[in-house]
Formats: sequence, structure tokens, C-alpha cells
Amino acid sequence: MGFNVEEYISERKKLVDRMLSELFKDASDSITTLDESMRYSILAGGKRLRPVLCIASAEAVGGRAEDVLPVACAIEMIHTYSLIHDDLPAMDDDTLRRGVPTNHNVFGEAVAILAGDALLTDAFFVIAQSEISPYLVVDVIREISKAAGSKGMVRGQALDLALEGKEVSIETVERMHYLKTGALIEASVVSGGKVGGATEDQILQLRSYSRNLGIAFQIIDDVLDIEGGEDIGKSRGSDIRRKKATYPGIVGIKKAKDKALELTLKAVSCLRDFDEKAEPLREIAFYLGGRRY
Ligand code: IPE
Ligand code: IPE
Ligand code: MG
Ligand code: MG
Ligand code: MG
Repeated sequence: MGFNVEEYISERKKLVDRMLSELFKDASDSITTLDESMRYSILAGGKRLRPVLCIASAEAVGGRAEDVLPVACAIEMIHTYSLIHDDLPAMDDDTLRRGVPTNHNVFGEAVAILAGDALLTDAFFVIAQSEISPYLVVDVIREISKAAGSKGMVRGQALDLALEGKEVSIETVERMHYLKTGALIEASVVSGGKVGGATEDQILQLRSYSRNLGIAFQIIDDVLDIEGGEDIGKSRGSDIRRKKATYPGIVGIKKAKDKALELTLKAVSCLRDFDEKAEPLREIAFYLGGRRY
């Protein structure tokens, strides 16, 4: 029997969804809608790509999904915060996300901002509360906080906004892509590897894999914003409306797709020293290359 990537993703996603439901099961404080707002976005669905990658990376080096699950869920919480803020009127000003109205459209801007703040902060609480050894916890927090903050995703988002309406080089777009999207994907893979017991050499290779994969992922996101169907579950045409600097915007759709494929192949080639336990990581990369949402 060959390896079935969709089955693998769906099984790992179930583990993630189960833990997230558990973490977000408590009802609200009865005065505010903060909990409802957080739960609304985190349980709205989503591919759970980053947590699945985190688990696949741990498994690629012989680790266990259960051990890395808190880290995987924490990363999904950070990602979800970034989506809530990304959709705000002051940022991309979008109305649809994960197939439902954006958080601020349901709960208002103030609560949406606070739900994002809380998801980001609580993510680190989830990691700190886990059974992972103190040394690894610090290492993983270093990795993830660097990727999410001013040296990573937040800077990427700031760049994305600052570049609206500007003529930019492809190198600049690539740097912005790496920061706003690639950095957290890299942190997902690297922290999964670390908790799974990767050697330093393996971490270097996982890093190269995820750097290529992250940029490919954002290029495809930009392509789907132009030619994706309704199943992307979010506002389409957002990038053209906001005059965003995007890969297809600069080189056209065809070359953007070629670039995404080239980066995907490069990502997979970075895992050549890994054995069959890295098959999920390899297959997820190809699977994402052909995704429709
Ligand atoms: C969307 O991420 C934002 C980007 C960084 C491109 P995903 O495409 O992973 O969104 P969900 O989590 O599946 O909703
Ligand atoms: C967002 O990029 C990257 C984040 C860090 C949230 P986009 O603005 O292209 O993401 P979508 O298309 O709204 O999901
Ligand atoms: Mg954006
Ligand atoms: Mg957006
Ligand atoms: Mg987009």
C-alpha cells in the first residue's frame, strides 16, 4: 500500500482539532464576548497546515505526535490571531474567512483585536504548560517568538502594508513572503523537529525544506486570490483591490506557478538524507503545490 497523504493530513488534523476543542471548550465570562470571539475563529476550520507540519516534522525524526501536540496547537493559535488581525479594516479589510464572516464583522473591531492579542499570548502559555522539558520549551519559545514577532511575521505584515500600491522587485516580494508567511511555517517545522529529537544537522535540513515551502505556499495563496474558486473560503480579489505586491502581480500567473513548483521541488530535495519517516513531509509539499484552497 502506498502512502496516502490526504489520510495522513486528516488523521493528524483530527488530533489538532481535538486538542483545540478541549482548550477552547470553556464558556464565556458572561459579560464579554472575548471567549466566543476566540473560539469562533480558532474552531472555524482551516487546513491546520502549520500544526500538521509540526507533527510531521517530529515524526520524520522519530518523535511522537502526542508529544508535540501542544506546540502544534500553539502555532495554530498564533496563526489564527494573525488572520483575525490581517482581516481588520486597518489591514486587508476583508469580510470572509474560513467560510464565515470575519471576526470583526461578528464581534466588532475592539473584541477582534483583543481576541487576536489573547490567542497570541495564550499560545505561549500552552507551550509553557506542556510536559516538554524546560530546556526544549525555552528553545521552542525562542524559535516561535522570533518567527512571529518583529523579526518575522509582524515585520512581514508591516512590509506587506507598506508596499501596497508600490512597484517592487521580485526579491522584495520574496523577502516579504518569507517574513509574513514563511517564518511561521519554518518555526512549525523546526520546533516539531526539535521536540521530536532531531539532530542539529537534521534541523538545518528541515529549515531549508520549510523556507522553500513557505514561499511557495504564499505564492500559491496569491494565485488563488486571483483564480481560486469559492472553496478558498475567503474574500477573493483582495490583493488587486488593495494593490498588494504579489508574485503573480509582477511576473504573471504562469511564471508564479512555475516558481511555486520549483520551490516545492527544492524543498523536497532538502530532505534527501531523511528516510521513509519523512515521506509525509515530502508528500505534504506536493499536496500543497496542487491545493485549491
Ligand atoms: C492563510 O493561511 C494566510 C497565509 C499565510 C497565506 P492558510 O491558507 O493556512 O489559512 P487556513 O489556516 O487554512 O485558514
Ligand atoms: C497574510 O497574507 C499573511 C498573514 C500573516 C496572515 P494574506 O493577506 O495574503 O492572507 P489571506 O489571503 O488574507 O489569507
Ligand atoms: Mg494580508
Ligand atoms: Mg489578507
Ligand atoms: Mg492572500
